[in-house]
Amino acid sequence: MNPDILKQIPLFSEMNDRDLDKIIHLASKQKYHKDNLILIEEEIGSTMFIILSGRVKISRISDDGREVILSILSDGDFFGEMSLLDGHTRSANVTATEESELLVIRREEFLQMLKDFPQIAINLLKELAQRIRKSDEHIKSLSLQDATGRVATTLLRIAEDSGVFRKGQVEILELPLQQDLANMAGTSRETISRVIKSLTEDGYLKKQGGKIIILDYEKFRVRFAR
Ligand code: CMP
Repeated sequence: MNPDILKQIPLFSEMNDRDLDKIIHLASKQKYHKDNLILIEEEIGSTMFIILSGRVKISRISDDGREVILSILSDGDFFGEMSLLDGHTRSANVTATEESELLVIRREEFLQMLKDFPQIAINLLKELAQRIRKSDEHIKSLSLQDATGRVATTLLRIAEDSGVFRKGQVEILELPLQQDLANMAGTSRETISRVIKSLTEDGYLKKQGGKIIILDYEKFRVRFAR
């Protein structure tokens, strides 16, 4: 494998070519098709993954069988590190939501890599700090906001993760399925379509083919970010 593929990955930022060359030899590549389950909650973990291309959802199933989506990760993101670090079982399910190509690194190599390259450990901690911030926001939105607020906050999360910002607008090109949106926002599909319709009528959103445009990102954020 060519070590250049590691240059786009934030976990390896600030690493020189010689070190990237060492790291690439610790990894292998694996492809997953849409809807393939990659990791299963409560299984013992022995590998971590880096997304070269594609998209995955991180989810858990509630006691009454509902899926709760904790996060959606895409190109350059990593997952599967938690159980390697704390020795517990997998904390969530991970499913490919589109064809995805992943780098796979085994536990021993991953832990050794953190010891050999402190910059990778710092990059990992930065990302984990950001994930805690996002989870804190998510908890706050689920517990404090009404349905409109929760749907709007979910759209903001997606916009900030993967939207295309242009002249004050944000285009969300690959909107998750309505059921996935509902599972992210802690609501139902019917509520998702009702709220998107009313946000469109109120001039906050525009639907165009498969994509959604937040017409004035700043106004939307000020109105709905809590
Ligand atoms: P692990 O517990 O090994 O397996 C499931 C993975 O999902 C976990 O490692 C993390 O990489 C990822 N994960 C769990 N919770 C979250 C979250 N709230 N945000 C982003 N990723 C998560």
